[in-house]
Amino acid sequence: MIKGKKFLITGGTGSLGKALTKKLLDSGADTIRILSRNESKQIEMENEINDDRLRFFLGDIRDEARLQTAFEDVDIVYHAAALKHVPKIEYNPFEAIKTNVIGSQNVINASLNQDVEKVICVGTDKAVSPQNTYGATKLIMEKLFVSASNYINSEKHRTKFTALRYGNVLGSSGSVIPKFIEQMKNNQPIYITDERMTRFTITMDEALEFVLNVTEIAQGSEIFIPKLLSYDMKLLTSTLNEIIELKEKEIIGIRPGEKLHESLINSYELLYTYELGDYYVILSPHVTKFQSSGIEKNYPDLKKISDMETYSSDNVSKISKEELKQKILNLNLIT
Ligand SMILES: NC(=O)c1ccc[n+]([C@@H]2O[C@H](COP(=O)([O-])OP(=O)(O)OC[C@H]3O[C@@H](n4cnc5c(N)ncnc54)[C@H](OP(=O)(O)O)[C@@H]3O)[C@@H](O)[C@H]2O)c1
Repeated sequence: MIKGKKFLITGGTGSLGKALTKKLLDSGADTIRILSRNESKQIEMENEINDDRLRFFLGDIRDEARLQTAFEDVDIVYHAAALKHVPKIEYNPFEAIKTNVIGSQNVINASLNQDVEKVICVGTDKAVSPQNTYGATKLIMEKLFVSASNYINSEKHRTKFTALRYGNVLGSSGSVIPKFIEQMKNNQPIYITDERMTRFTITMDEALEFVLNVTEIAQGSEIFIPKLLSYDMKLLTSTLNEIIELKEKEIIGIRPGEKLHESLINSYELLYTYELGDYYVILSPHVTKFQSSGIEKNYPDLKKISDMETYSSDNVSKISKEELKQKILNLNLIT
């Protein structure tokens, strides 16, 4: 699926985009186009990954005409570009609608027009029963993707649209662990919202493996979700304290738009969720092709979920302290 293929990654200079680029290059990709807005980030990435299979396209996903030319002759598109900082988006909600919603529809339109084989968008747990505008825009992105096949003529278009969802990537840009480590290294206090708060845990390597496996098995219109462990803030701070001495912590209370626990599948979606090895897959009843019987045969070893009430970070197994510590050390943030 990877070897010899031409890829385009929207948001290719971001945390996921960069890591995915390296992985695809190592796996024998023919070429990879990176599409993003900021030229400095592109220059930095060009210097970091010196490979003549990489092409850098300046462009904004809000500009459909730009996407039409950028997507020409591409086999697989990963759609990772997004605005994602919750408070910034609460302050500028329509900017997130323009990027995360309209931009995503532009990605769909350009993929159809250019006959891209597979298009995978990267979703988040914040899109599940969303409590903030970021989550709401990412929910609409997923809906646009899973429904895109409803109105296409499958004889004319081969494009398959698939969404995937996971929780906070340990150590990704803007996430809490690099921030805490920086503060602890500088002997500053760290600010905890609520010690009971839980989050799913996934490392970048695990996210990459998930993205590549989904690329392989996606048939179109599904939402894939990995089976994950979680941690609470108490465990996180005590683990960090074993790595660098924590001088002071302050509890500041949950922030607007934040949830105490995140869900990766809500109770309504669970009605349409199946187990597929290490993953769950939602086959939405609003997708025409999933309304016909026997569609499950397209996925080997698919099992209907029957005994799960919610899939949220407070009711899955917790990661052990030792495993969390190792994952934090592997981030190489401590020098
Ligand atoms: N990080 C996580 O923990 C996490 C968890 C679950 C899901 N996700 C999702 O995974 C995706 C990637 O996340 P990330 O952590 O890699 O994000 P990131 O580091 O913030 O990167 C975002 C990328 O999108 C580009 N971008 C933003 N607006 C754009 C626009 N209008 N047109 C073109 N490019 C644009 C940015 O570059 P420019 O600013 O130069 O354009 C950057 O390359 C996002 O969709 C996010 O919602 C992330």
